[in-house]
Amino acid sequence: MWIVLTTSVITTTASAAPICAPGMMPTAGVPSMFDPRSAPAEMILDITWLVTAICAVIFIIMQGLIIWAIIRYRAKHADGDGSEPPQVYGSNPVELAWTVIPLLIVFVLFLVSARGIFEIDKQEPPAGALEVTVVGHRWWWEFDYGAQGFTTANELHVPLTKDGESQAVFLTLESADVIHSFWVPQLAGKKDVVPGRTNHLWLQPLEIGHYVGQCAEYCGAQHANMLINVFVHTEADFNRWVANQQRAASQNNDAAKGRDLFLSTACINCHTIRGTVANGTFAPDLTHLMSRATIGSGIVPNTPDNLRNWVWDPQTIKPGCDMPSMKLTKDETDLICTYLETLQ
Ligand code: CUA
Repeated sequence: MWIVLTTSVITTTASAAPICAPGMMPTAGVPSMFDPRSAPAEMILDITWLVTAICAVIFIIMQGLIIWAIIRYRAKHADGDGSEPPQVYGSNPVELAWTVIPLLIVFVLFLVSARGIFEIDKQEPPAGALEVTVVGHRWWWEFDYGAQGFTTANELHVPLTKDGESQAVFLTLESADVIHSFWVPQLAGKKDVVPGRTNHLWLQPLEIGHYVGQCAEYCGAQHANMLINVFVHTEADFNRWVANQQRAASQNNDAAKGRDLFLSTACINCHTIRGTVANGTFAPDLTHLMSRATIGSGIVPNTPDNLRNWVWDPQTIKPGCDMPSMKLTKDETDLICTYLETLQ
């Protein structure tokens, strides 16, 4: 029942802007739990329909009985003798029926829900699962691919299959600050991301695609702009993406001036660019910034103009976010962005 309750009707502010990252990113589907594309999301929807169907039958029977009673007994004493109709003081068969039948219904719902929770709420990774640690920050997501040895942000990439078999994905959810909630309705139910506690979420994608979701627990001013993009790739595309993420940052000498400037700013205290002295961990890893479709956790597409505006003053795009304006000149902003744009 809890699963059903916590995955009720969805509205989302996920950006409607077309997201087109390098290469193979399909357009996002509608983030609806009624259009599942992952095994746990399908199970949740099945339970939802079962509960809805049972409730609908009860509703129809009860409304039918009420309407029938109103019509059937409406004019009973139209003869006007003023007497009361016959009074019934209890009936054992009737009381037994309205106790036992609801009990049986609740018992069935309990069993179905318990089985669903048991199957969905895995505490250990399924065999061969891809494991990713998700850290919620105000207001962005860190994705740590521990076994693969890299960290990225805001866009989760997973393969549909591994060696031709369906690939399970096992997320470990942690928070760096306050309570967030990780929710991609087409892939799984929602799961809170709680400071000081480790939660897990299982995904089993059934179709290649781009799925959107968002933080589902109010976490401050930019809660609504804490979006999640999940890309489910073919195995080959995913392996290519991993191989690229595993590389250190490219050293393009055309952008040497911008790189030197970037590495001389306080940016490096918060951001990591692997292969340079920038090794901060408070903010998204920028080693392969240009492999991401969006910036600011999905708030704007990752275009040259948006990147310049963001570096110039992120507060104009995402007021309240932790990144301050570094008070760069326009020329300095341009130099740094020219460097950032080499981080493919
Ligand atoms: Cu994070 Cu709402």
